[in-house]
Amino acid sequence: MTLNSLMGSMLPAIETELLRTVSLLDDPGTQLFHEMLTYHMGWSGIGAGPDATGKRIRPLLALLTCAACDADWQPAVSAAISLELIHNFSLVHDDIQDRSDLRRGRLTVWKKWGMPQAINAGDALFILSHLALNEIDKDFPHQIVQQACKVVNKACLALSTGQFLDISYEQMADLTSEDYWRMISGKTAALLSACTQVGAILGGADGAAQESYRSFGHYLGLAFQVQDDYLGIWGDSALTGKSTESDLVAGKKSLPVLYGLSKNGQFAKRWTEGHIHAEEAGPLSELLSVEGAKLYTQNAVDQMTDLALQSLRAAEPLGDAGEALFELANMLLIRQA
Ligand code: IPE
Ligand code: IPE
Ligand code: MG
Ligand code: MG
Repeated sequence: MTLNSLMGSMLPAIETELLRTVSLLDDPGTQLFHEMLTYHMGWSGIGAGPDATGKRIRPLLALLTCAACDADWQPAVSAAISLELIHNFSLVHDDIQDRSDLRRGRLTVWKKWGMPQAINAGDALFILSHLALNEIDKDFPHQIVQQACKVVNKACLALSTGQFLDISYEQMADLTSEDYWRMISGKTAALLSACTQVGAILGGADGAAQESYRSFGHYLGLAFQVQDDYLGIWGDSALTGKSTESDLVAGKKSLPVLYGLSKNGQFAKRWTEGHIHAEEAGPLSELLSVEGAKLYTQNAVDQMTDLALQSLRAAEPLGDAGEALFELANMLLIRQA
C-alpha cells in the first residue's frame, strides 16, 4: 500500500523528466532518431503504453532511498532518470549482443531499424543519461555532485565489464559459480547498487548508511538477475515480454545452466554436444527442472533477497519510503515480468 501510493507520485515525475530529456533529440532533421528512442522507452509505435515502458524500478529505488533518508526526493529526480537512461542504453545494446528479437513484448530496436542504427540509439541514451545527471548541480553542492557522478561512472564501467564476461562465458567451459556471481555483479547489480547509493548520497546519509544502502542494492541486483535467469527459462513470455528460448539457444551460462552442467546428467550431455535449437528449449528446460535446477535457482533468489533485506535493515530506512523499500524488495522476489 505504502509502495503503491509513493509510486503514484514518483512514477509520473520520473516519466515527465524522462520525456523532457529524450526530447532534447527532437529535431526536425533527425525525426527517425528521436522516434527510435521514444519507441524503445515505450512511448511511441505499436504497443506503446505502460506495458512497453518497463517497470522503472531503478529510478524508483533511487528516489525511495533518498526519501528513506528523510530528504525531499524531488531534487533527486534528474539523477534517478539518469540511472533509468543508463539501464535503457544497456538494454538496446544487450539486445544486439544477445540477438534478442523481443523486449517488453515488442520488437527490439535492432530488429526494427538494424544493428548500426540501434548502436547509435543506445549511444544517444547513454549520453542523455549524463546530461540528466549534470542537472543535479542546480540543487546540490559540488562535492555531492562529484560523489554521485563517480558512483554512476564506476557503475557504467562495471556494467560493461559484466557484459564482456557474459559474452565471453558463452565460449568457456568449466565456469564456477564464483565466475557467475562476478559476472552478474557487474552486468546487473552494479547499476542497482548505484541507484541506492546515489539515492543515499543525495538524501544526505552518512558513510555507514550509504554503505548499507549500496549493499542493499547490490544483493537486490543479484537476486534480480537470478530471477531474470529463472524467468528466461521457466517464465511466461507473455508476461516477461521476452523469449524463453533465447538464453538456452544463445548458450548463456545462466545460473540454472551452470547448475545443470555441474550435475553432469542428461542436460549436461546435450549441452556439450553443441548448439541448442529453438525447438529443443522446451524439453531442455523441463530436463533442467527435473535435475533440480529450478529449485536451486529459486533458493538462490531467496538467499540473495535475505542478504538484501539484512543490509536494508542495517541502513535503518525511515518513514513510508523505508517501508516501501521493504515492499519493493519482496515484490521483486516474486515477480513474473
Ligand atoms: C532487465 O531489467 C534486465 C536485467 C538487468 C535483468 P528490468 O526487468 O528491470 O527491465 P525493464 O526496464 O523493467 O523492462
Ligand atoms: C541484463 O542482461 C543486464 C544488462 C542488460 C546490462 P540479460 O541479457 O541477462 O537481460 P535480459 O534478459 O536480456 O533482459
Ligand atoms: Mg539479454
Ligand atoms: Mg545479455
